[in-house]
Amino acid sequence: MTAESCGIGEQRVAGLASLIGGKARIRGWLYVRNTVGKLVFLRIRDSTGVVQVVVKRDMVGEEVFNQVKRLRRESSLMVEGLVRKDARAPGGVEVQAEKVRVLSPSLEDPPLRKNMSPEAVWKYRHLFIRSRTMNTVLKLRSSLSTLLRQWLLDHGYYEVSAPSIVTAATEGGARMFEVSYFGKKAFLTQSSQFYLEGAIFSLEKVFCFQPSFRAEESKTRRHLSEYWHLEVEACYMDLNQLLQLEENMLTEVVERFYEKHKEDIERFNPGFRPFEKPFKRITYTRAVELLRNSGVEIEWGRDLGVKEERLIAVKVGQPVFVTHYPKETRAFYHMPDPENPSVVLAADLLVWPYGEITGGGQRIDDYNALLNRIVESGYNPEDYAWYLDLRKYGSVPHSGFGLGFERLLAHILRLPSIRYAVPYPRTQTIVYP
Ligand code: 4AD
Ligand code: MG
Repeated sequence: MTAESCGIGEQRVAGLASLIGGKARIRGWLYVRNTVGKLVFLRIRDSTGVVQVVVKRDMVGEEVFNQVKRLRRESSLMVEGLVRKDARAPGGVEVQAEKVRVLSPSLEDPPLRKNMSPEAVWKYRHLFIRSRTMNTVLKLRSSLSTLLRQWLLDHGYYEVSAPSIVTAATEGGARMFEVSYFGKKAFLTQSSQFYLEGAIFSLEKVFCFQPSFRAEESKTRRHLSEYWHLEVEACYMDLNQLLQLEENMLTEVVERFYEKHKEDIERFNPGFRPFEKPFKRITYTRAVELLRNSGVEIEWGRDLGVKEERLIAVKVGQPVFVTHYPKETRAFYHMPDPENPSVVLAADLLVWPYGEITGGGQRIDDYNALLNRIVESGYNPEDYAWYLDLRKYGSVPHSGFGLGFERLLAHILRLPSIRYAVPYPRTQTIVYP
């Protein structure tokens, strides 16, 4: 394949409608082939869409015609020809081929068909992402992450990066992937929060967008073992200001996302409406009362499960912040409420059916208070020495949150599982390809 045959200056399928009556050269992959007498109809897809190409023996010659007639799906090819209006063709245009060059014929029929079994979808994920559905999901994913990043940059946040290989848990030790690190034990990070907390003492307002790893044995539609985590942290922010930040970011970004991609989003989720401010808020204690009034037996102090989260989202409306959780249900770094130290200044944002899409809160900023909580939670303070240092040298009040990026995207598009919101999912059962 030469650079010339790969071509520079070709048109993209989505732009063909503006070339009616003129010539175009497109590159792409064979999507569907149909032979009707002396005509071969090819549907060719590129990153932007699908176009119908008509190949006539007289126009392309015997040899090419015979090659095209036998071409398998997913073969890569280049076509030059006349662009014609055709109301029956996808996109309203058709290309009358004058020249066809097969760049690389598929060696076998690809294992892609309509209504593939879930097992096949995951096994052939590297090919399945060529589907029109996944093509759109991946474009939307790229756009949504860009809008989130841009919003934070526009609001004075710096993007920082944090290590993926770490030495201690942030969210509970039982759910960590262990890695052998030059003969020492290390882990894949569950969250970059502690590293962001370190960075605010230099940059004040920071975020990162990178994978977090969870070795949870949950085979649900909302769990991945590797997911993309948008985490935000800022100095001088209390719980109330944190919730305002989340609310502003999410309403503005989702609104902008919806405006940009209304047609695609509505194809996936016809009922979707952007989030509206203010988000509902309910304390954990009030939520427990509400659940009990609805006949759910729940002890105060127990974390909310899927069933409880669903009921809250339905009863209170969504999205809804559940705040002031019992201390024992949250990680050690959460600030106890000065007015009622049995609960912490934490909040989860719930939507239905994906449940919690963000989790965050105010951090303990006092050295001794943090040390006590680490010991009380059964951890070794030595493992957290550097994290404790942050309270030793000029501590300030601060808060932050983490957003499960795939959960947000899956919620907006109403995908059947967050596995569809990521090109190559990692779950308890999927680690290939
Ligand atoms: O609630 P989590 O565990 O909170 C933290 O990790 C905090 N350190 C974040 C912070 O304050 N910087 O995770 C945050 C979010 C959840 O609300 C959820 O949306 C998502 O990450 N999440 C997952 N997404 C997909 N698969 C999983 N297994 C997830 N676990 C959490
Ligand atoms: Mg959480």
